Order: sequence, then structure tokens, then C-alpha cells
Amino acid sequence: MQAQRHNIYTLIHKGIRRQLCHCMNALGALDYKDNHAVITVMEELSEVLVFCQQHLEHENTFIHPILLQLQPTLSLQSVHDHEEHEISILKLHRQVLSIRNNVGQVVASDILDLYRNFALFVAENLLHMHDEETHNANLLMRHLSDQEILAIEHRLVSSLTPQQSEQSLNLILAACTHQERSALLQELSAVFPPETLIRLVINTSLNLPATELHKLCHTSTADAKDSRIMLEGSK
Ligand SMILES: [Fe+2]
Repeated sequence: MQAQRHNIYTLIHKGIRRQLCHCMNALGALDYKDNHAVITVMEELSEVLVFCQQHLEHENTFIHPILLQLQPTLSLQSVHDHEEHEISILKLHRQVLSIRNNVGQVVASDILDLYRNFALFVAENLLHMHDEETHNANLLMRHLSDQEILAIEHRLVSSLTPQQSEQSLNLILAACTHQERSALLQELSAVFPPETLIRLVINTSLNLPATELHKLCHTSTADAKDSRIMLEGSK
């Protein structure tokens, strides 16, 4: 079997997909008469919209210039998508804020309207992330070694604030496979202070189904080593 190359987008996109779908479903099921629930879901939506804005800015800063350098004549679909997403994020933010500021007077159609607009945003993002994970990632892999791709990722990750870094890791750890989770936690244990690591593990455990949590609790060093070898073998 062909050795798997490092895809710079895969893990963070898994986290974003999970969170976007969670928020969309929460909005679809939201009781507009329950003020507490309305406030909670609006806060979650604000958070995911801010995250999406920051995520596209990181890609604009650290990935797009490299892609355009590799193929100067390239017209990147992602550049156009990001411009559209910024407009959608602004519009959705306004809608969320308006509902948040009018709790108690919200009617069913306010929530339904936001649900439909947010679902469209999710749909655009799903298509967009697929394009990045295939077209953009292949371009990087054709021209760069895995070590060079990891260096781009390292520059991007190093630019995150501790809060942004923890938020990203929480999303990833809840959304990835057991093997990816074990390898990531093993890598993080070498660089993160114990209190941060414990917080990440606790948050992850709250998001995992019992079967996955059981596997995580019984991950042997050998399992984590295997995952590590798998990741390193791809560098
Ligand atoms: Fe993107």
C-alpha cells in the first residue's frame, strides 16, 4: 500500500465539520420560547463563526501564498470561497446578534430563517473544505516534501494564541479517529504543560462515546507508538 502523505487540512477540517454540524442541528431543534437555550445556541454559533473567520485568515496568511508561489498562474477557488465566506460570516453574525439582543421576543421564524442561512453556510464550507483537502493538498504534495508541509503547519500553529490552540485541539480531538487521537495526545504530552494536557483530555472525554473513551483509557504505549510510527512514516 502507498505510504500516506501528510495532509495539512485533514484534522482541523474534521473538527470544523463536527462543530458546524453540531451547531446546525442545535439550531434546527431550538425551542424559540426557551430563553436560556436560545442564548446558549447563539453563543455557540458566535463562537463557531469567529473560529471559521480565524481559520480562513490563517489559511490566507500561511497556505495561500505558498500555493500561489508554487503555481503563479493559478486561480485558486479557495481565494474566491474565502471572500464569500467572510461576507456570509458577517451576515450570520448580524442575525445571531439580533436574536441574542431580542431574547424573549424571538419568534419561530427568526430561528428558522437563521437555521436555513446557517445550513447554506455549512453546505458551502463542506464543498470548500473538500476542494482544499483534495486540490490544494495535492498541489502541496506534488511540489513539497512532508517535512516542508509540516513546516508550514508548524508556522501556522505557532501563530495561534494559547486559547486558539486549545480550542482547535478540542475540536480535533473530539472529531478524529482513535489512532489520530492517540498519536496527537502522545505528541502533545511532549510539548504541553500537564495542566493543559489534563484539560484537553477531560474535554475530549466529555465529547467521546463510551466505546471510544474506553479505547482511549486502554491505549497502550505500543498503540500510541504504532500511530506515531504511522505518522512519522508519512513525513
Ligand atoms: Fe479554507
